[in-house]
Amino acid sequence: MTLSVCRSVAELSAALMAARAGGQSIGLVPTMGNLHAGHLSLVAAARGRCDTVVASIFVNPTQFGPNEDFQRYPRTPEQDLAQLEAHGVDAVFMPDVDEMYPLGERDAIRLEVPGLSEVLCGAHRPGHFAGVASVVLRLFLDVRPDVAVFGRKDLQQLAVIRRLVEDFRLPIDVVGMPTCRESDGLAMSSRNQYLSESERAQAPVLHAVLSQMLAAAQQGDPWGDVCTVGRQCLQDAGFKVDYVALRPESDLVSDEPQRIGAPDDLVALAAARLGSTRLIDNVALSEGV
Ligand code: PAF
Repeated sequence: MTLSVCRSVAELSAALMAARAGGQSIGLVPTMGNLHAGHLSLVAAARGRCDTVVASIFVNPTQFGPNEDFQRYPRTPEQDLAQLEAHGVDAVFMPDVDEMYPLGERDAIRLEVPGLSEVLCGAHRPGHFAGVASVVLRLFLDVRPDVAVFGRKDLQQLAVIRRLVEDFRLPIDVVGMPTCRESDGLAMSSRNQYLSESERAQAPVLHAVLSQMLAAAQQGDPWGDVCTVGRQCLQDAGFKVDYVALRPESDLVSDEPQRIGAPDDLVALAAARLGSTRLIDNVALSEGV
């Protein structure tokens, strides 16, 4: 089957009509484009679970703050379409801002996610998760997938989306796929290309520090101490740290500095800047690290 490129909801509905009529399962991989191997692993996961695979490419303005990188976010639609076709995607939804937000960006309804959207990345990017939840709900309503696949690198985003699905009782199976890494441990991200040569050389320290933090928690160091050491290591390596945290994946909100031990779902998370580039990453015990 050749790739259908749909720029409107009407085109998307037409492209999916036969699949729906035939009772096929539909998998969705939402992206902002500029695809790398991490995105393609999400496509493979959807392909393995569903009869029909839809990917979306939309750089969503409502999840960027006023001083963030919306304008310079890399946009490479031709290469993205070629890769998606080569990886067996059936349809790509590529709306523009007016199609995605018919009442205009300013008047678009936004979804608040109490608690979860206010901590970690949310504390440093006000409004970010409202923008993510809002656009993902729109994508869910437009595509009506059975399965939606997201990367675990954005673990807090994944938690927000799981909450969205639970709270609205959406009949969608949300799948979180492991982070794809470069050979030196750096989590793949479209934003890595902003890094200078010297920043790129420092960037893998983020993953190394998170791994050390998990090990220290397993050895019984109190979580607050582990985070203090982790923060210091990142600062020594030239990072400006937004946050360093240890949390159970089942509760990303509660901060428990006195806590000792390593529950099965323990995860070490951080966001930190090298120059003007903000990197995020996390390492989870459940991933066998
Ligand atoms: O993870 C991303 O690329 C985006 O946040 C998403 C889920 C496509 C929503 O714009």
